[in-house]
Amino acid sequence: MLLSQILLPTLLGASSTWALAPSGPWDAFNFAPTSKTLYATTIRHVEPTVSGSENLLSSTGSATLGGQGAWVTLDFGKEVGGLISMNFDAVNLTSSISLAFTESPMFINPLLSDDSSFPIATMNYDTVLSVPAPLSTGHWTQPAFALRGGFRFLTIATTSDEPVTISNVSVAISFMPHVEDMTAYTGYFYAQDSDFMDPDFLTKLWYAGAYTVQTDTVAINTGRQVPFEPQGFWANNATLGVCFDEASPCPIIVDGAKRDRAVWPGDMGIAVPTQFVSTFDLTPTRNALFTMFTHINPETGALPESGPPLSQLGSDTYHCWTLIGSYNYYLFSGDDEWLSTIWPNFTLAMSYIEGRVDSSGLADIIGLRDWGRLGQGGHNAEANAILYKLLLTASSLASFANDSSLSSAWAANATALKTVFNDVFWMEDVGLYRDNSSTTLTPQDANSFALLYNLTLNDTQKQRISEGLERNWVDLGPVPPELPDTISPFISGFELQAHFEAGNDTRAFDLLHREWGYILYTNLSVESTLVEGLTANGSLYYRYYDGYNDDAAYTSHAHGWSSGPTSALTFYVAGLTVTSPQGQNWALAPHIGGPMNSAQGGFTTGLGWFGVIWELLDGTSGGISLNVTTPEGTQGVFTLPQGISGTVKVNGSVLDVEGGSVPLSGGALNIVVS
Ligand SMILES: *[C@@H]1O[C@H](CO)[C@@H](O)[C@H](O)[C@H]1NC(C)=O
Ligand SMILES: *[C@@H]1O[C@H](CO)[C@@H](O)[C@H](O)[C@H]1NC(C)=O
Ligand SMILES: *[C@@H]1O[C@H](CO)[C@@H](O)[C@H](O)[C@H]1NC(C)=O
Ligand SMILES: *[C@@H]1O[C@H](CO)[C@@H](O)[C@H](O)[C@H]1NC(C)=O
Ligand SMILES: *[C@@H]1O[C@H](CO)[C@@H](O)[C@H](O)[C@H]1NC(C)=O
Ligand SMILES: *[C@@H]1O[C@H](CO)[C@@H](O)[C@H](O)[C@H]1NC(C)=O
Ligand SMILES: *[C@@H]1O[C@H](CO)[C@@H](O)[C@H](O)[C@H]1NC(C)=O
Ligand SMILES: *[C@@H]1O[C@H](CO)[C@@H](O)[C@H](O)[C@H]1NC(C)=O
Ligand SMILES: *[C@@H]1O[C@H](CO)[C@@H](O)[C@H](O)[C@H]1NC(C)=O
Ligand SMILES: *[C@@H]1O[C@H](CO)[C@@H](O)[C@H](O)[C@H]1NC(C)=O
Ligand SMILES: *[C@@H]1O[C@H](CO)[C@@H](O)[C@H](O)[C@H]1NC(C)=O
Ligand SMILES: *[C@@H]1O[C@H](CO)[C@@H](O)[C@H](O)[C@H]1NC(C)=O
Repeated sequence: MLLSQILLPTLLGASSTWALAPSGPWDAFNFAPTSKTLYATTIRHVEPTVSGSENLLSSTGSATLGGQGAWVTLDFGKEVGGLISMNFDAVNLTSSISLAFTESPMFINPLLSDDSSFPIATMNYDTVLSVPAPLSTGHWTQPAFALRGGFRFLTIATTSDEPVTISNVSVAISFMPHVEDMTAYTGYFYAQDSDFMDPDFLTKLWYAGAYTVQTDTVAINTGRQVPFEPQGFWANNATLGVCFDEASPCPIIVDGAKRDRAVWPGDMGIAVPTQFVSTFDLTPTRNALFTMFTHINPETGALPESGPPLSQLGSDTYHCWTLIGSYNYYLFSGDDEWLSTIWPNFTLAMSYIEGRVDSSGLADIIGLRDWGRLGQGGHNAEANAILYKLLLTASSLASFANDSSLSSAWAANATALKTVFNDVFWMEDVGLYRDNSSTTLTPQDANSFALLYNLTLNDTQKQRISEGLERNWVDLGPVPPELPDTISPFISGFELQAHFEAGNDTRAFDLLHREWGYILYTNLSVESTLVEGLTANGSLYYRYYDGYNDDAAYTSHAHGWSSGPTSALTFYVAGLTVTSPQGQNWALAPHIGGPMNSAQGGFTTGLGWFGVIWELLDGTSGGISLNVTTPEGTQGVFTLPQGISGTVKVNGSVLDVEGGSVPLSGGALNIVVS
């Protein structure tokens, strides 16, 4: 397969070329804009006192808003973000207008935007951007501080009795400030879903996740202002951290496009793998993690829960996520310069969390803040499952940092933690782990993490957890017992991977259909990027009783933490993943139990292109054929998919299968199992 090449901003300052994904029918699902200047695609609403509104769909022709009560809502067709410009063609002395923004169509209103500064039950915190009289004729651009980072609908209203004639209304895209061609993906995914109303669902979802993370990749000086602006205002001109190098514009990855617009390391546990498989745009991640380390508490070694200006403190789980995220970043990039820079603070942060482990052998959690769940604290199972994953990844990272004694100490502590974890939390009669030793509550988060991170002792335990997790499901997916009346696509992103790990592909696809099938297609959403959460019945009142103050308009519709399916489709369904830095070692283990007969996908690392196309031959009974391309000089392991057995031929030669797998070398391989 011939791949085009492109020069992208590089990781280490030296210029290198990344392979772009091959083109094909999947390109039609790429949401990334082809231009940095966008015009609306349709008129969503227009009052009779507005004339010529259709002219606002291009740069030419004008529309007149005829005084008080005249308003028009432009639809950009998908989530966008950036500064609005327009031309004032005819104005009067007292003419004035206002701009209102919203992601969801639910909150289209000439007097109100959806909320981003603060949540209130009246849902009228942000209100509008007023453009007061006197207006001057000519080109006008929204002031930079008033940037809206995420919206789909723009409502322009006159706020005076005098008419206003406008033209050339566009948005200058503000996300991905360091990348010229936002569509130039280094990865792709494609499969047809025979079990959903839209056969392109999986492909569309993969691209929606990728685009969500792009909309969360922002210039470092465009964060939400803290302390929050007073009611009636918003400001997105705060500094979000520090740049690892002097690159300009300096990009950083945040939680959401509209809000919070701050670095949240837990969110990155999902968003960064998405970024890796789609754009390989890791510079914003490097800056975000670097920022977290520079804000370490030098006395205790505790890391903040979020980046500045929020600089939220007091989360032991998010502390761990910064450290796990460091492993992920290194795994994907192999960036030694960055690793040696952060290493002293990494080890200091490890001593903080290891210091929380008491005589019970479990960490006693005192930083109670988390992804929103209730009941955090003490010997909590979720936090200890994350700590287990941290010890394993820290052990690997220590060996890459050439510190073999720390590497073995952390590995030994991981082993010890796994034993205690099972002794204290496993409920054999229920087939699930409990939240802590004084409850029988069986959380979605701890059980998903424990399965995914292999805290389990045998495969039966994995299958029982997978089955037990399904008992939390309603029509739209899992309702976490630890955060009732909620759907959390963040935690469900881990649960999704857990079902694949348990070997139940049917259940994994059922979850995809229920939860993301709703999220992507419901007309409450932006139908392009992914919402941060919902209530159990699918409303936007996410966390209404837990910090979001009954404000459905505050919910973000472009949260990278909801993009779990993107990396899961690549890693589990296409089945290709990296197991050592940059993919020097890789694994090929497609999950073929979904509603398709073939799937394909791939990604790029500093070593080159990794791609796979597989096809079932005459149903599973006929075997499988796979074409795999990985860089020369790499090594891989092919694990035979569940239900497939027989002779394995690689480029025509029969190879031995041991324990269900076959070692492979990089290059172009045709594998047939029949
Ligand atoms: C407002 O301005 C327009 C064009 O600039 C003009 O035709 C119209 O007479 C003005 N209206 C008033 C009330 O001044
Ligand atoms: C969503 O679709 C339903 C059913 O077609 C319709 O009643 C409702 O008005 C739509 N909502 C929005 C915000 O478009
Ligand atoms: C952000 O914009 C507001 C409103 O113009 C201004 O008061 C504030 O000083 C700006 N903050 C920064 C960090 O530039
Ligand atoms: C229309 O707006 C674009 C984007 O701001 C600008 O580049 C262009 O100059 C404007 N056209 C006119 C005729 O003012
Ligand atoms: C390490 O932590 C110190 C505070 O103890 C901080 O001043 C420094 O910037 C941090 N260095 C890195 C590379 O994160
Ligand atoms: C144990 O878990 C339950 C259920 O999540 C919670 O209500 C309780 O506060 C937890 N106990 C401690 C000590 O945190
Ligand atoms: C670890 O040692 C190897 C071999 O000397 C070196 O290439 C690598 O850069 C070192 N890693 C770090 C993070 O310094
Ligand atoms: C391993 O665990 C023991 C017991 O909790 C602790 O004393 C030790 O510091 C841990 N080792 C490291 C390297 O964190
Ligand atoms: C998972 O844990 C089991 C039981 O402790 C162990 O045998 C197995 O090797 C582990 N799997 C991986 C991938 O580490
Ligand atoms: C699997 O591990 C669980 C937890 O230790 C144990 O209760 C169960 O008996 C084991 N099952 C098998 C089949 O080994
Ligand atoms: C997989 O999950 C489905 C429910 O989605 C269940 O009916 C089936 O028994 C499970 N299969 C296995 C092997 O556990
Ligand atoms: C793999 O490549 C061979 C040779 O180009 C082709 O005949 C076959 O159809 C390919 N298989 C798949 C699954 O694409």
